[in-house]
Amino acid sequence: MFTSKPERKENASKSELYSDLLSQLSSVFADERDFIANAANLSSLLFHSVPDLNWAGFYLHRNNELVLGPFQGQLACVRIPIGKGVCGTAAQERSTIIVDNVHEFPGHIACDSASNSEIVVPIIKADRLLGVLDVDSPSLGRFDEEDARGLNELVRVFVESTEPYL
Ligand code: SME
Repeated sequence: MFTSKPERKENASKSELYSDLLSQLSSVFADERDFIANAANLSSLLFHSVPDLNWAGFYLHRNNELVLGPFQGQLACVRIPIGKGVCGTAAQERSTIIVDNVHEFPGHIACDSASNSEIVVPIIKADRLLGVLDVDSPSLGRFDEEDARGLNELVRVFVESTEPYL
């Protein structure tokens, strides 16, 4: 659906938010290429700037599993097999996954009981899976295509600005 007024307004402000975050990130990354430092700053930027989140962070691809990386939010599970949960599925399929209601996602891994919806973006450089960016919200249906576009763009800049950690 395209043109209901509130939806247009919400999407306009989301795209403004992501374009603002993109310019902030570009200056944060301008003089730094360390993977962990840049991932930590991206987690913080998202957690403190994107409304209605309870968790934002990274799982890193190591030895055919995902291992918890820099994040903001409550303590989280440390290891996720590729193909398991929302993160492992996005990693296996190498595509962004939006889950409107995590309680209905088969195999969802519950880390923070406050999470109700989730978006996961794979991080790929030169065809190599480096990990995923995982963002959770306490609201159902919090994430849409506009978030997917915005977060993919932030991940693209992160990958361009950062040396892979392995
Ligand atoms: N819910 C994720 C696990 C990570 S936490 O949300 C931080 C999943 O199902 O993969």
